[in-house]
Amino acid sequence: MSDFEQKKLRAEELRKELNHHIYRYYVENENDISDYEYDMLMRELDSIEKEYPELLTPDSPTHRVGGQADGLFETVVHTVKMLSLQDAFSHKEVREFDARVKDVFSSAEYVVEPKIDGLSVSLEYTNGVFTRGSTRGSGENGEDITANLRTIKTIPLRLKKDIPFIEVRGEVYMPREVFLKIVEKQELNGEKPFKNPRNAAAGSIRQKNPKITAERNLDIYVFNIQQVEGVEIKGHYESLVFLKELGFKTIPFFNKFDNIDDTLKEIERIGEIRYTLPFDIDGAVIKTDDFSMRETIGSTAKFPKWALAYKYPPEEKETKLVDIEINVGRTGVLTPTAVFEPVLVAGSTVSRATLHNEDFITEKGIRIGDTVKIRKAGDIIPEVLCVVEHCDNSTPYKMPDFCPSCNSPVHREVGEAAIRCDNPDCPAQLLRVLIHFCSRDAMDIEGLGDAVLETLLNQGLISKIADIYRIDYDKIAQLEGMGKKSADNMRNAVEKSKQNDLSKLIFAFGIRHIGQKASKLLSDHFLTLDNIISASKEEILNIEGFGEIMADSVVDFFSLEQTKQMIEELKSFGLNMESQREIKDNRFEGMTFVLTGTLSTYGRKEAQEIIESYGGKASSSVSKKTTYVLAGEAAGSKLQKATDLGITIINEEQFAEMIK
Ligand code: IVH
Repeated sequence: MSDFEQKKLRAEELRKELNHHIYRYYVENENDISDYEYDMLMRELDSIEKEYPELLTPDSPTHRVGGQADGLFETVVHTVKMLSLQDAFSHKEVREFDARVKDVFSSAEYVVEPKIDGLSVSLEYTNGVFTRGSTRGSGENGEDITANLRTIKTIPLRLKKDIPFIEVRGEVYMPREVFLKIVEKQELNGEKPFKNPRNAAAGSIRQKNPKITAERNLDIYVFNIQQVEGVEIKGHYESLVFLKELGFKTIPFFNKFDNIDDTLKEIERIGEIRYTLPFDIDGAVIKTDDFSMRETIGSTAKFPKWALAYKYPPEEKETKLVDIEINVGRTGVLTPTAVFEPVLVAGSTVSRATLHNEDFITEKGIRIGDTVKIRKAGDIIPEVLCVVEHCDNSTPYKMPDFCPSCNSPVHREVGEAAIRCDNPDCPAQLLRVLIHFCSRDAMDIEGLGDAVLETLLNQGLISKIADIYRIDYDKIAQLEGMGKKSADNMRNAVEKSKQNDLSKLIFAFGIRHIGQKASKLLSDHFLTLDNIISASKEEILNIEGFGEIMADSVVDFFSLEQTKQMIEELKSFGLNMESQREIKDNRFEGMTFVLTGTLSTYGRKEAQEIIESYGGKASSSVSKKTTYVLAGEAAGSKLQKATDLGITIINEEQFAEMIK
């Protein structure tokens, strides 16, 4: 294959992968790879497209710049374009940047600052008074978020000096401590927690209601003068000092260097302290100090040629693998977990990481006792990257032949990576089954968490799902750490769960391939559990969104003798087995809604339930068939698609009107 053909294939692969990550990030609020990995993929594609411009396609993700305004806020035209920064990932690239600058000005000096991982905003002051604040948006047009920015206490509403006009640029961010508190609260309330401080800041700054922004305790670091009248400033260092005098909270540290070696040393120093800072940074910014030099050096359409962003790779640490633990999941799959000597990585101590399956261990050649390299994927989830050194006398790791919980033989099916224990009475599986049954999204039985269920199982107080409804509460009251009150609370929670909607019960059964959404579809479609039990595969396949594997799984599950017995028992305890879907009126009949962004008044689930209760459908992707897109804060590409297709976009207030 020629180089061109190889690059062509690679470009297609990269485009597909990047578009997938963009979708996951902007539409589903998830990220599977770190920003760093994302940047590397984008850069690889960019370099192929530069080498072979004929490979550039109109839909290439390299064309995307910044976020898109979506009509929820007034548009602000940035008179001084809010440029982005060119990235560098190695010292070599920093030196190349230096050479380009020095080619024009051999005496250029650089200011180095941390690169705050937040959202770029512009703040405008007329006669010393804060008049307008906006997002960066596309760089040319942003959105007016003045009311929300006013809630950030470190943004001065009046400057300490009266100057006719100044526009500054800064980064709004959420301090890590605030982020952790919010996430804790979200988890307690059963809400989907923010992924990282930047997502949290993004979700908070584009709120329609500034009160919500105010509660989020955002902060800002100001790092640039975009334009100023009535003051003469010659360089960047001087401007940061001036901004401080005006009352701005300026970038926390900035230093000036007259040579590239010291500049690089500062970049390294910032890299070393990055996880000790109370906020996230994703790099360091190197800026030519002198404004007149900047003007001569100039900018491209996207970024200034006088500045550079150095991006730090995710922190990697070496540690010793002391053990491989095997956990048995709900479906009997044996999952190996690496247990290593605790090590501080990306700001927190970690000692465990999943090893996924047997193939992962074999491919990486992981053995107990080895020195391994680890890092946090997306700066969050620990993962083992590779083996650095095998320990003396070590032998390849072998997955067990018998289940560590029940000692039954385990097996690996051809074509599958998973090793399974097939014993339906395996206590480890049983524990997982029970944990799932009682979990919040399933039967939501408070008081029956992991540890309590494990105790009940070990004490022989329960041995299957139906036993939950025949718990002996006198015995519970006598358990260590329990008492009459805990036993009463448990009884109330168990009793309450009997009234749950059918969809929760179906999800609680933990049928393979049947998640929350499929459970709801089954329940809405068939209305009673008996109807589902007697449904044929073909009837199940009639439900939109159901495929062969799912339909087979449902039929298989309900034909099992033990399922039938369990359902009989649950019926005898009085569990609700009917859909409580209430059709109020059919005002949304024939309409399809797509929900996007974070909905603050309703929450996604609630909005979906409302739509369905009025006979409408909630779908996850925008198409020509979509009737309305209900957009919350930080809505992403779905909104763009809706605009492109000319679909009506409504906000939460309009939605509230529609359901009155
Ligand atoms: S300077 C014209 N300095 O990084 C130069 N940007 O990747 C303007 N950022 O959109 C950028 N900390 O929001 C600059 N100390 C800093 C920064 C910084 C964070 C953000 C900024 C920009 C993005 C570019």
